[in-house]
Amino acid sequence: MAVVHNSGFRLTKEHFLVAVPVAVVSAAAGFLVSRYLSSRTCKKGHVNVGISKDSPKVVHSFDMEDIGTKAVYCRCWKSKKFPFCDGAHTKHNEETGDNVGPLIIKKKDA
Ligand code: FES
Repeated sequence: MAVVHNSGFRLTKEHFLVAVPVAVVSAAAGFLVSRYLSSRTCKKGHVNVGISKDSPKVVHSFDMEDIGTKAVYCRCWKSKKFPFCDGAHTKHNEETGDNVGPLIIKKKDA
């Protein structure tokens, strides 16, 4: 059996016997590599990939009187000063196309 395309390119049964397994193995390898890379960068459903992972729940609490005139809190979970924003959201947004930013709490006149 041979399939001849308009370009004159001829595919024989032997071509298919080689091409099909190569395509299947390539697709499987690509799938496994993408799964591996995905699992390294982000666990399924986790937004927190590195902060206090030994704790069952990450909670921070502040008294209003202790905040002062202004506090900037991280909402992207990438800050090295978590729970405070250190600007890491900018890099995250550039790399992912996301649009996250901090929570800013301030007195009206601050
Ligand atoms: S570093 Fe996370 S919101 Fe700014």
